[in-house]
Amino acid sequence: MGSFDFGTAKEVLVGLETPDDAAVYQLDSGKLLVQTVDFFTPIVNDPYLFGQIAAANALSDIYAMGGRPLVALNIVAFPCKLDFSLLIEILRGGKEKIEEAEAFIIGGHSVDDDEPKYGLAITGEVEASKLTTIDQAQPGDYLVLTKPLGLGILATALKADFLTESDIEEAIVNATFLNKGAAEAAARVGVKAMTDVTGFGLLGHLYEMVKASKVGAEIKLKEVPYYEKAVEFVDSGIIPAGLHDNRRFLEGKVEIDSGLNETLVDLLFDPQTSGGLLIAVPENKLNELLKLLKGRSPVAKVVGQILAGECKIRVKS
Ligand code: CO
Ligand code: CO
Repeated sequence: MGSFDFGTAKEVLVGLETPDDAAVYQLDSGKLLVQTVDFFTPIVNDPYLFGQIAAANALSDIYAMGGRPLVALNIVAFPCKLDFSLLIEILRGGKEKIEEAEAFIIGGHSVDDDEPKYGLAITGEVEASKLTTIDQAQPGDYLVLTKPLGLGILATALKADFLTESDIEEAIVNATFLNKGAAEAAARVGVKAMTDVTGFGLLGHLYEMVKASKVGAEIKLKEVPYYEKAVEFVDSGIIPAGLHDNRRFLEGKVEIDSGLNETLVDLLFDPQTSGGLLIAVPENKLNELLKLLKGRSPVAKVVGQILAGECKIRVKS
């Protein structure tokens, strides 16, 4: 943002100063509004699934703050030369996920564009005591991840026609899976810090957390869940540009033990869309959280731990 000053107010509890998933604004009544916006180009060919993934992804930032989505606005870019029925399918997928989230689409805006894009601006609410932010991770907290990694690589392979959607059905179903249940489980046990794993990859989002919380962390590579199919494509060089960007950004910030499987290390930098929650949970609440996550999230894996120390992440076996 450079030196440009957007200004702020005491009602803005979470704004541009921290890399949180959504902004939080306190109303006169004391209620907290949570707001976020996200949209992007299709990552799958099926327009209906793309709509579902885009909505699940946008909702995720509300869930990562401990919030409950209330209303949503569609954001659409669509080439007028394309078949309009494709757009109808995108919007149908989005609507279904917003309804599953028990929220409502109440409007939106569309523009003519060369490439389709879809997403939503979402407004939710959160009780002050339930607000989860990225700066409250504590040394000793365990790190729990709720979806496997590798979707960015698989989407790149799909775009290049190296596979079809049916080859990666599990990954697509997981991308449409709402982080609602996982967030409810986290709220139930009283988690203070979490985020969702999206464009910066697992290590990028973890870095945002350790930086904001002024702590360190370690990741146990062998505990990290991933899609088997993604491994083949990393080995043949089918890698999203964002993975390289993430790796470059994290140079000097992540210490990777020598002798680790390099393909699996690459997956830690893979940009995800509608990825899982990364939850920092105190040791005495870990077992209860894992129990509650059963059936509420695609996976629930303890992938590492928050450590004392400044902003350093170590990846070990
Ligand atoms: Co996010
Ligand atoms: Co976002």
